[in-house]
Amino acid sequence: MNEQVPHDKSLDNSLALMREGYLFIKNRTDKYQSDLFEARLMGQKVICMSGEEAAKIFYDSERFKRKGAAPKRVQKTLFGVGGVQTMDGDAHIHRKLLFMSLMTPEHEKRLAELTMEQWKASISKWETSKKVVLFEEAKVVLCRVVCQWAGVPLKESEIKERADDFSEMVDAFGAVGPRYWKGRRARTRVEEWIRGVIEDTRAGKLQAEEGSALYSMAFHKELDGSQLDTQMVAVELINILRPVVAISTFITFAALALHEHPECKEKLQSGDRNYSEMFAQEVRRYYPFGPFVGARVRKDFIWKQCKFKEGMLVLLDMYGTNHDSRLWGSPNEFRPERFKEWEGSLFDFIPQGGGDPAKGHRCPGEGITVEVMKVSLDFLVNKIEFKVPKQDLSYSLVKMPTLPESGFVMSDVKRKYSSQEWTY
Ligand code: HEM
Repeated sequence: MNEQVPHDKSLDNSLALMREGYLFIKNRTDKYQSDLFEARLMGQKVICMSGEEAAKIFYDSERFKRKGAAPKRVQKTLFGVGGVQTMDGDAHIHRKLLFMSLMTPEHEKRLAELTMEQWKASISKWETSKKVVLFEEAKVVLCRVVCQWAGVPLKESEIKERADDFSEMVDAFGAVGPRYWKGRRARTRVEEWIRGVIEDTRAGKLQAEEGSALYSMAFHKELDGSQLDTQMVAVELINILRPVVAISTFITFAALALHEHPECKEKLQSGDRNYSEMFAQEVRRYYPFGPFVGARVRKDFIWKQCKFKEGMLVLLDMYGTNHDSRLWGSPNEFRPERFKEWEGSLFDFIPQGGGDPAKGHRCPGEGITVEVMKVSLDFLVNKIEFKVPKQDLSYSLVKMPTLPESGFVMSDVKRKYSSQEWTY
C-alpha cells in the first residue's frame, strides 16, 4: 500500500463510481486536497489522478502504456478489440499517422461543408414537423456526412439504423445491463457491414477515391509492409465513423448552452469566428462527455510520494481537470471568453485527452469536432429560428455518457433566409 497517498477506505469503489459518475474522482481529490489517491475498482488497485501536472505524467509514454488498460467490455462496445487505443510504441505511432493523415485542415473543411449541406437539407422536413429532437437529427445528419466524406456507401433506407448503432456503441461505455448489450449488438452489426465494404473495396467492386478514409484504411500497410486484416481495418474505420456521429452530443449541449445563455447568441450572430471557436471550446470544457481515461504503469516510478508499480492501472480525470479551479477560474460558470486568455497548454484542457496527438493517445479528431460544432452553431443561430418548448433539459452527472433528458426539443422551426443566400 502507498502509505503517503490518500486512500478511499471502502473495500471496493465500483459502486461509488456508479453512484457518483463524472464526479467520482473529483469528489475525492477535492476531499483529500490531493492530485491523486488510491482506490479499488472491479477488485483491482487503481491510482486516480487529476490536474495539469498529473496529465503531463500520464501522457509520458516512458512511464505509461495502454496494453491491458482498456477493459474488454469497453473494447467490445466503444473502441473495437485491438484498435489504435490499445497499441504502444512504434506500432502505435505508425497507426496513429494513418489517422492524422485524415485529419488535415482540408478534410476538416470538407466535413464542415458537408455538415452545413445536410443541416440545410433537413429544414423543409422540420418546418412541417410539430417538434424536432436535435440530438436525434444530429446523429442522422452526421452519419450521412461522415459516410459520404469517408467514401462509405450508405442507402437512404439504412441511415437511421446505422446512426443509432454508432450512438449505441458510445452509449454503452459506462453502462451495465441492457444499454451495454445494445452497444455490443450494435458493434457486431456495424463491424459486419464495414468488413463487407472493405472486402468490396479491396476486390475492386467498390471504387474508393484515393485519399478518402475508406481508401487509406483499406490499403494501409503495417510497418512490416503487410496489409491489415479486414476485421482490423473495420475496427479502425469505425474509429473514425463512430466519433463523428458522437459529435451530436456536443451539438446538443451547445444548443443547451445557447438556450441558457441567450447573451452568447448575439455574439454568435455577429459572425465573429473567434467567438464561435471560444464557444465551442467552452462547451467541450464545461459539459460532461468523456469522464476519465486509463493506462498501465510501464515501469516503476515515484511521483508525489506515490509508488507507481509496473502494471498498475491509473485513471486520469478528464472531467475533473476541465473543472479544476487552479486552472479555470469559476470552473462551474459557462464563460466562452475565458478562452481568450487560454495559452493552449496540451495538458490543462483535456476533453479529448492530452499531450501531442501525433506522439501519444490524444484524440486526433479535435479539429474535426470543433469545426463541425462551429458550423452547427452557425446553422442554429444564423440559418434558422425556433422555439424551445417546455421540456426536461436537465442532465445527469451520474449516467455516463450523459445528455439533456429531452435530447433538446425545438418547435416552430423556420428558415431565416432562402437557402441559396447561405454561405459558410
Ligand atoms: C465527439 C467528440 C469526441 C470526444 C469526446 C473524443 C474523446 C476522445 C478521448 C477521450 C480519447 C482518448 C484519449 C486518450 O486515450 O488519451 C479519444 C481518442 C481517439 N479519438 Fe476521439 N473524441 C471525439 C471525437 C473524435 C473524432 C471526430 C474522431 C475522428 C474523426 C476521433 C477519433 C479518435 C481516435 C482514433 C482515438 C484514438 C487515439 C489513440 O489511441 O491514439 N475522436 N477521443
